[in-house]
Amino acid sequence: MKIAIVRDQSRAEFLPGEEGIQEDRQHKITMGHIKEALKDTYEVIDLIMDHNLIENLDREKVDLVFNLCNGIKGEASLIQLPSLLEFEDIDYTGSAPLGHGIAYNKIYSGKIFKASGIATPGFIQVNSIEELDDIKLSFPLLVKPKDEGSSRGIQDDSLTFDRESLIEKVKEGLETYNPPMMVMEYIEGTEFTVGVLGNGDDIRILPILEIDFSRLPEELNKIYSFEAKFEYDKYITYHIPARVDEETYKKISETAIKAFNSLGLRDYSRVDIRLKDGVPYVIEINSLPGLDRYNSDIIKMAEAEGMDYDTLIKTIVNISKERIRKERA
Ligand SMILES: Nc1ncnc2c1ncn2[C@@H]1O[C@H](COP(=O)(O)OP(=O)(O)OP(=O)(O)O)[C@@H](O)[C@H]1O
Ligand SMILES: [Mg+2]
Repeated sequence: MKIAIVRDQSRAEFLPGEEGIQEDRQHKITMGHIKEALKDTYEVIDLIMDHNLIENLDREKVDLVFNLCNGIKGEASLIQLPSLLEFEDIDYTGSAPLGHGIAYNKIYSGKIFKASGIATPGFIQVNSIEELDDIKLSFPLLVKPKDEGSSRGIQDDSLTFDRESLIEKVKEGLETYNPPMMVMEYIEGTEFTVGVLGNGDDIRILPILEIDFSRLPEELNKIYSFEAKFEYDKYITYHIPARVDEETYKKISETAIKAFNSLGLRDYSRVDIRLKDGVPYVIEINSLPGLDRYNSDIIKMAEAEGMDYDTLIKTIVNISKERIRKERA
């Protein structure tokens, strides 16, 4: 079996300066690690998602694509590679275009969680500050972009406690990010992130990771803001498995799987959850979680149950192969 690991082109043109260069370097490193993990079992090549991709996949007679593409820009960026591969009838790891599209847009996924009976914070979408006039949500309120990741657009002051700062933050967000902005009820509670692996009846979670903000400097809000993630990360403690009783553990696990299924996701994902008054609220789902060998949450979770990096990567491939086998049967 021949696998092509496909990664994004450099985004340096859109992410100026060091950020773009660093991201590109990171993608290359991850690709190298995945290649290393698979090379003893499969014939593995790596390709870039550019205009020659389909020609290259055809020429190389690839059986499966390992999808690492977040896309370069635009609302449909995550959907582009899976769509192209669907059109060409080439198999690939992970979710299909619709699942990625819905998970990527937190407004759509939030609506589906609600309709599926999954607890999620109350929110409204805002296209202009006038829409804040008769707002029915209660403070504190978190202002966030509907379709970013890595806490872009979620700064410490995105958590607002009064009308004035809410208006200020929404105004700023509308000028910077793809409108509409989300205004979300703040769930004050312990935060978890949950790795989901599998499909259909054969689905399970990895050990739940608890993100502990209690050591953050007093003046910072206890959220995984951009500042917390990149400036104050040494004050954040991870507990795997999460320090909760068995019943709560089960509730969080079931909620994560239900959320994953509600969006029709496949193979693997990471679900962010906050627990308040014993209820797990789904904050968002990452349908293409990072697989960086040294920094990804999902790797930490796998390692906590004794699954090393190479085994996790091979497991993802096996889960995809099994799904494809059933789809084609
Ligand atoms: N409604 C909410 N209530 C409480 N905290 C929230 C809420 N929404 C977001 N947060 C906090 O903000 C952080 C980032 O939010 P979110 O997960 O939506 O952003 P992201 O940038 O997509 O994250 P990722 O890095 O996982 O891609 C969360 O981890 C959580 O700490
Ligand atoms: Mg998140």
